[in-house]
Amino acid sequence: MFSALHNRRILLIISGGIAAYKSLDLIRRMREEGARVRCVLTAGGAQFITPLSVSALSEEQVYSDLWSLTDEQQMGHIRLSREADIVVVAPASANLIAKMANGIADDLASTVLLATNKPVFVAPAMNVMMWENAATSANIALLQKRGVKIIGPDNGSMACGETGAGRMSEPNEILSTLRSHFELPGPLKGLMALVTSGPTYEPLDPVRFLGNRSSGKQGHAIAQALHERGAETVLVTGPTVLPDIAGIKTIKVETAREMLAACEQALPVDIAICAAAVADWRPQEASLEKLKKGSTKAVLELTENPDILANLAKDSNQRPRLVIGFAAETSHVVERARQKLDRKACDWIIANEVASDKGFGENDNQVTLLRRGENNRVVESAWPLQSKDEIARRLVLEIIDYFTAA
Ligand code: CTP
Repeated sequence: MFSALHNRRILLIISGGIAAYKSLDLIRRMREEGARVRCVLTAGGAQFITPLSVSALSEEQVYSDLWSLTDEQQMGHIRLSREADIVVVAPASANLIAKMANGIADDLASTVLLATNKPVFVAPAMNVMMWENAATSANIALLQKRGVKIIGPDNGSMACGETGAGRMSEPNEILSTLRSHFELPGPLKGLMALVTSGPTYEPLDPVRFLGNRSSGKQGHAIAQALHERGAETVLVTGPTVLPDIAGIKTIKVETAREMLAACEQALPVDIAICAAAVADWRPQEASLEKLKKGSTKAVLELTENPDILANLAKDSNQRPRLVIGFAAETSHVVERARQKLDRKACDWIIANEVASDKGFGENDNQVTLLRRGENNRVVESAWPLQSKDEIARRLVLEIIDYFTAA
């Protein structure tokens, strides 16, 4: 898998906090993406996870002690930071953040942070009151002013039982920020992209809706890949359980009509990719009251929804330079996708077979890309079965080629 973290040297500082368990997953994922990860574990961090698990996952020695002769001989605090491309502090406790802001160097982690000349990323994790304390706010503001990049924290319920801001960002979000650091400015820098994703929900009454099984995975992966290659990306998404993607403007909608309005608002863009599984019909009328058994006819009157892709692709002075749609079909996939390419006047269409056990919600997908070439001739290329992330990255490479050739 292509990743901007490939061959990058990351120094990960793990300080004290229950969120330290997430750092183990973070190390594993960084390694999977080809990064070389060295870890410094503070005394607080070692209360939550063991040096053994950190070193097993990073496949490197773990550094903890500023005064240890072995640590110093093998890797001093200066070398630790010099030999990294970036320094990541995750989780960053309120205490370590305060030390960073004030230049205190009383252990290996804080000394490395004072000595480093590399970009520093901090993912805070602490109780909501500690996060909202004026001292922490001032420390964070000071660090940001000095160029330290702060990731998160997220909102939610915490290990201490309270709820609010202070949860460490998920490894996914941290990784995405780190990738963006290495990828920007990318080949799509200066271009604007719009992506639709997920299902739409069409209300029947206040509690029921017509919807579909779309997970939003493919659309979200495309938005992320576009962002990672430098495009300024707006994601318009129906209801999904997927987390927000760092660095991307996300507009959350429920119905097809809301999705169309949000897309029109995002114009003009250079690239539009419609990956959403938009409901073709909506109930003619949504009841304001919950429908009761026996009180209504068991027949639904439906009315057609606007076609967002066709609207974006129609000839207008705001037409994006490249409009890409999907064709989800249960049979005659490529033939029907060709018809859709014409009917919706888009430039490319990605055809895939769907069934309840194929395409929707799954991680892997087999797609065929159909492109309108010279003299309106349609060029077809079938891609192997691959993950939705890989499809997204490959599509973005095709988009880069398209704009480089243009
Ligand atoms: N699409 C859209 N707005 C709609 C319906 C579909 O933008 N109201 C887009 C989808 O995002 C996708 C493409 O059109 O990029 C094709 O969607 P698909 O569901 O395969 O086709 P439909 O137009 O709905 O046609 P049918 O259901 O008859 O196959």
